[in-house]
Amino acid sequence: MNLILMGLPGAGKGTQAEKIVEKYNIPHISTGDMFRLAIKEGTELGQKAKSYMDEGALVPDEVTIGIVEERLSKEDCQDGFLLDGFPRTLAQAEALDQLLSNLGRQIDYVLHVDVDQEELVERLTGRWICPECGTAYHVRFNPPKVEGKCDKDGATLIQRKDDQPATVKNRLEVNIQQTQPMLDFYSAKGDLVAINGAQDINQVFADIDEKLQAISS
Ligand code: AP5
Ligand code: MG
Ligand code: ZN
Repeated sequence: MNLILMGLPGAGKGTQAEKIVEKYNIPHISTGDMFRLAIKEGTELGQKAKSYMDEGALVPDEVTIGIVEERLSKEDCQDGFLLDGFPRTLAQAEALDQLLSNLGRQIDYVLHVDVDQEELVERLTGRWICPECGTAYHVRFNPPKVEGKCDKDGATLIQRKDDQPATVKNRLEVNIQQTQPMLDFYSAKGDLVAINGAQDINQVFADIDEKLQAISS
């Protein structure tokens, strides 16, 4: 199963990805997570990505496409993958298409998780993440069992730098601009599946799961 999880910042891509990869046993490829790891490790990639991410801008296409190409060539992607947050521009979508067709493969489904903008701001500004395992929590919608600590490893939760209100506004604007051309691209190919992301976390997953069972059976 070759899947793309699309949605504006805060739509719940990471939250749903965690559930999808657990059930369907495919690797979770989040470009945002890859960049954050590179920044944490101080690599050259991290240095390239940091200033863009801090402002809520997009990392240049050639950098982003390059890391996805490298990641998709790994052994664990041979039986499928879940892309989270990539592609995010039409140029990235076209590059991915080319890349997969060179490998004799194609995308099966593009799951587009849709949520209203006001709700997204609330989700992002109330999000806390685990610096160790990356799990996202929300002060109101998805609180950890012990306040401020990760359920899985007990690490102290932190806020993402780009979740500050001013940066959130910019991230949403930038992403909204890029979304429609990609929706048109995948809709023309017949790959697009709309998912209502404005429901509770488990209901969103139930809807996604229903669609995925239809193709995997
Ligand atoms: P990235 O890390 O991908 O950030 P994003 O797209 O802004 O999305 P988020 O991770 O913020 O949101 P999400 O949809 O994963 O939501 P989550 O599940 O956490 O990218 C970061 C940056 O990297 C970009 O700004 C850019 O600079 C760069 N970048 C990455 N990819 C790139 C690319 N392809 N090209 C160029 N640059 C790129 O949920 C959010 C919150 O809501 C959480 O608190 C969660 O608990 C809560 N929540 C989730 N679902 C629900 C629900 N159903 N109801 C209530 N609350 C919910
Ligand atoms: Mg995410
Ligand atoms: Zn953790």
